[in-house]
Amino acid sequence: MGNYPSPYTHTILSQQFTPEFLKEVFELADKIRANPKEYQDALRGKVVATLFYEPSTRTRLSFESAIAKLGGAVISTENAREASSASKGETIEDTIRIISMYADMIVMRHYEDDASLKALATVSVPLINAGSGRSQHPTQALLDVYTIWRERGTVEDLEISVVGDLLNGRTCDSLVYVLAKFPGNTFNFVAPDNCSLKEGLKEHLEENKVEFKEHKAIEDIIETTDVLYMTRVQKERFGDEKEYEKAAGQYILTKGLVERMKKDAIILHPLPRVDEIAVEADLDSRAKYFEQAQNGLWVRMALLVILARRN
Ligand code: CP
Repeated sequence: MGNYPSPYTHTILSQQFTPEFLKEVFELADKIRANPKEYQDALRGKVVATLFYEPSTRTRLSFESAIAKLGGAVISTENAREASSASKGETIEDTIRIISMYADMIVMRHYEDDASLKALATVSVPLINAGSGRSQHPTQALLDVYTIWRERGTVEDLEISVVGDLLNGRTCDSLVYVLAKFPGNTFNFVAPDNCSLKEGLKEHLEENKVEFKEHKAIEDIIETTDVLYMTRVQKERFGDEKEYEKAAGQYILTKGLVERMKKDAIILHPLPRVDEIAVEADLDSRAKYFEQAQNGLWVRMALLVILARRN
């Protein structure tokens, strides 16, 4: 597993997740959703810091809800870029060293790709990467793969198509690194010319002999896909408005396209969406993106319980 930390110590990159760890998280998430009261004291007496340097609805609030439901306490810095001492020039390393003195776990979202790797140098409690720049969002991969496992009954032998901004997004990377570990999975990537799949991920798939193809049209993949993973063009990461406009609005999943999908296919999206899935598609039984967001709560509860037990 390279030089990655154990998934029982920190959550930094999705390459850390072994099939055994995923099984443990998913089975515990199922138990928690079936009987949440049984876990209401799992974090009693623990303090979890949520440190968000970038905006978030789902990740921050599902983590904070998860901590509260497990009986823990939250200390939080929303908009940490301005509201924490980062605004005075404090480094990530120093901030994390200090927060480790006040909290039993740290959940951090940051705009730099390598922020959670920098934080590892000084953290002395479990650290959870809640999204780092363009690079990774490993707990999103946990809930994405959990949703596939629940909806399809397997995470093997699937044709997975990822559509949208694969250069600036981070959820595609985290998801693909996990699903590429399972036998029989093949991938399609559909992206605007200026938002193609990152070279590092392509090299990883080639080195591991995982089958994948790059496409320019959703129509190329719509009828054979088992898991369609739509993503947003990440406007906030474009320095040049013209480049954003070139990429925006190219791929929109309409009701007509959904009707051409396999009956047992599922549609996922990490959310928020802009216009890449027509609202009329929400009524189709294959649309699972709101269940996926709900699953984030159960999966994050399970992850927190496992990290609290082991540390
Ligand atoms: N999927 C996701 O990370 O959503 P938020 O940005 O709202 O947390």
